[in-house]
Amino acid sequence: MKTEILAVSAPAIERAANALVAGEPVALPTETVYGLAANALDPVACARIFEAKDRPLNDPLIVHLPDIGWLARLTKPSALALRLAETFWPGPLTMVLPRTEVVPDLVTAGQGTVAVRMSAHPVFRAVAEAAAIPLAAPSANRFGRISPTTAGHVLSELDGRIGIILDGGACSHGIESTIVLVEDDGIEILRHGPITAGALEKIASVRATSHGDIATPGSLKSHYAPVTPLDLVESLAGEARENTGLLAWHPVDDGAGFTAVEVLSATGDLREVAANLYAGMRRLDERGLSRILALPVPEDGLGAAIMERLQKAAARE
Ligand code: TXA
Ligand code: MG
Repeated sequence: MKTEILAVSAPAIERAANALVAGEPVALPTETVYGLAANALDPVACARIFEAKDRPLNDPLIVHLPDIGWLARLTKPSALALRLAETFWPGPLTMVLPRTEVVPDLVTAGQGTVAVRMSAHPVFRAVAEAAAIPLAAPSANRFGRISPTTAGHVLSELDGRIGIILDGGACSHGIESTIVLVEDDGIEILRHGPITAGALEKIASVRATSHGDIATPGSLKSHYAPVTPLDLVESLAGEARENTGLLAWHPVDDGAGFTAVEVLSATGDLREVAANLYAGMRRLDERGLSRILALPVPEDGLGAAIMERLQKAAARE
C-alpha cells in the first residue's frame, strides 16, 4: 500500500473523513501525539488499526468523540464524569467509563469499560466533525515503540501499512493524554499526562493507583521504547560515553564525549521537555548507538508524566 502525507486543506480533510467513513484507518494529528484513527463503531475498520500497528488484540483503544453528544451514547457517565468533561474537554484527558452496547468488543478488549476523550486539535476536530463518527485512535506507532509527534515520525513507523497521513505539524503536548478511571466518588490516574494530578485534584478526589485487574496502559513495563537500550541514570559520572547518546532535559556541564546529545529544553521547562521528548528519543535511536543515557526529571506536575515515559522506555521487558 502506498502511504501519502497530505498537507492540511479543506479537500484533504474531506478525503480523510471519507476514508474513515469507508472503513479505512487514517493517521491524524492530535494535541498530544499522532493517532491512527478508524471508525470506532466498525469492528473491521478497528481491526485494521491492530493490524497496521502489530498491536495485540487485548490492548483496548481510546475512542475520540466528535461532540459531547456521543458521551451518553457510548458510556454511562456519572455526575463526576460530566464535571471532568466540562472542565477538561476538548483536551488531553481520557476517561475510562462504563460502556454501552454500542461499543464493539474489539475496541474495549471485551471489558465493561471504554476509554473516551475529545481532542482539542483543530485538524482532528475538523475531520471528526466531517466524518460525524466516533474515532478509535491509538498512537500511530508500531506497538511498544515511540509515539509519533510529527507526520514524518508516523511515516517512519507505518509506511506501506496505511493509506493517508494528515500532516498537522508537530504536536503541542508531545506526550499522550492523561488517563483516569472514573468512579462515582473519585478517580484513579492510570497514565500520567498533560492534565496533571494537581489539576485533577481541584475537581475530583484522586485515589492512589491500585490497577486492579483492568487492562491499563501500565500493564506492560516496556513501552514508548527506542530500539537502542536506554538507561535512566542519576549522574553521568563514571558512565562510558563512546557510541552513547545523552537525552538531557536541561543543558548539562559534563556532557562532553557523548556521541550525540539531545537537550530537550534550554531552560529546563517541563512543557518544552514533554513536547520534545519523543522526537529527541527518536533522533538518538536513529543514530544506531549502543546505548542512550537519560537524566531523570523532578517528579511533580508534568514531571510525573515525563518520568513515566522515561521509565517505560528504560524497561527491558
Ligand atoms: O493522547 C492519547 O491518548 C493518544 C492520542 C492519539 O489520542 N492515544 C493513545 O492511545 O495514547 P494508545 O492506544 O497508544 O494508549 C491508550 C492506552 C492503551 O495502552 C490502553 O491499554 C489504555 O489506553 N486503555 C484503553 N482503553 C482502556 C480501558 N477501557 N481501560 C483501561 N485502559 C484502557
Ligand atoms: Mg501508544
